[in-house]
Amino acid sequence: MTGFQIRAVPTTPFADQAPGTSGLRKPVSAFLQANYLENFVQSIFDGAGLSRDAALVVGGDGRYHNRTAIQAVVKMAAANGFRTILVGQGGLLSTPAASCVIRKRAAAGGILLTASHNPGGPSGDFGVKVNVANGGPAPERVTDAIFVASRRIAQYRTLEAEDIDLDRLGPTSLGPAAVEVFDPVADYADLMETLFDFGAISRLFSGGRFRMRYDAMHAVTGPYAHELLERRLGAPAGSVVNGQPKPDFGGLHPDPNLVHARALVDAMAGPEAPDFGAASDGDGDRHMILGRGFFVTPSDSLAVLAANATVAPGYAQGIVGIARSLPTSRAADRVAEALGVPCFETPTGWKFFGDLLDARRVTLCGEESFGAGSSHLREKDGLWAVLFWLNILAVRGEGVEAILRSHWRRYGRHYYARHDYEGLDPQKADELMAALRRLLPGLAGRVIAGRRLSQADDFCYSDPIGHTVSEHEGVRIVFEAGARIVYRLSGTGTQGSILRVYLEQFEVDPARHGLAADAALASLSTVARDVAQIESRTGRAEPSLVT
Ligand code: G1P
Ligand code: ZN
Repeated sequence: MTGFQIRAVPTTPFADQAPGTSGLRKPVSAFLQANYLENFVQSIFDGAGLSRDAALVVGGDGRYHNRTAIQAVVKMAAANGFRTILVGQGGLLSTPAASCVIRKRAAAGGILLTASHNPGGPSGDFGVKVNVANGGPAPERVTDAIFVASRRIAQYRTLEAEDIDLDRLGPTSLGPAAVEVFDPVADYADLMETLFDFGAISRLFSGGRFRMRYDAMHAVTGPYAHELLERRLGAPAGSVVNGQPKPDFGGLHPDPNLVHARALVDAMAGPEAPDFGAASDGDGDRHMILGRGFFVTPSDSLAVLAANATVAPGYAQGIVGIARSLPTSRAADRVAEALGVPCFETPTGWKFFGDLLDARRVTLCGEESFGAGSSHLREKDGLWAVLFWLNILAVRGEGVEAILRSHWRRYGRHYYARHDYEGLDPQKADELMAALRRLLPGLAGRVIAGRRLSQADDFCYSDPIGHTVSEHEGVRIVFEAGARIVYRLSGTGTQGSILRVYLEQFEVDPARHGLAADAALASLSTVARDVAQIESRTGRAEPSLVT
């Protein structure tokens, strides 16, 4: 405790530090500006109201700038009155594991250095996320307060000290604070063992007849997947690929979807394909599920988990409710209806699930953007979903495709796709959304391309627990007979604006469950482009990414 010095460094505000859908996310170059990271971190300490009587959890997804930023955060935390700081070894901590540790250690919250599924490396993105004491992302009232603090910041506080050794496990002191470098995998892996039938999954692997491929995309889940899948569950070595976290994710774009996880998709399509394929994103909260030559949409994945939840010991009592974000398909709604439990529709972003989970109104949550999770944490959780699928496969003794086909026969199939128009001129994107909103009052009851509209509005969410109201969360156009289009602008992009167009077409007839998604959605896609005048307003005839 002797000889430390706290320094107050004068600074001036940056105008662009409003947290988005999931923290502050910018190109690395923005974070390399003098004081940029420090300003935001001080704004968290000034605005988020994190208790100084409990620990602060710090970690990141291992991307470029992670280790440097962690040293800065840890010193600032010590200078800002945190007496206990828990840091993931090597600066690594997946987002769900952070949520796990915050809850287990009753911490005040966490600071996570991640830009999630955005590319890494010097020309990629960097980001800072804040989690609160329930282990979940800071809710809007907190992120608003952080933004206010960032606009009036005049100084930040830091400690004059040597860097800590991020790689050596155990306690160390840093000025007035105690720092503990902890194993980022153990607590999380132990929690997974309480939720799933590890015996059944091990038996699935032990016969040698069942093979899986898990692609960690050189991001943070590698060490978690090696431990859980290969060490604790006995999947053969090599079942986890790209398992070494790298600062540039090995040049991959760590977003598990059909485009960016191409190598996995190809491996699952070949003659030697394993039975089960999965991937996660940069910080480990997203997941993609594949069968042999078969893709499970994230919306369907949520519905299947809900319909089969009781096979897993952690959910044997059944689920109390489901929540899904607005753009996520309504496949889960049908399962909720059959189970007689509520299904909540929330705005995009995991932070809207926290209150519902805390109030025990829901057990499972999910988003179309490859995210699902449950009451076990307050973040979405990629490996949790993979283990849940393995548990279902082990108990049902059927393949991924067979499980989906019987699910569709029972509940109907929700064809689904998301079309992204990336890198748009922000002004044009805003004008497109404004024009859509102006159209809304005249749309209800109209017939467009042979489809009658039943509802057209700009989604407004009243949180049933916190009673906050969030407006303009997405324009939705709902047709009779189960078709729906949702339009919104991304809150996580860093280059211009991204228009997301979400298409859903319900099909009850099993004879029509075998179509390719793009064929089933073709006419709805045309309607979506025409209604929003996408080509004339943006100059784009086609989306740049379809997931
Ligand atoms: C995107 C996804 C959203 C997810 C978020 C963070 O946000 O659409 O579902 O919660 O990333 O992973 P968006 O860019 O659409 O605002
Ligand atoms: Zn993520």
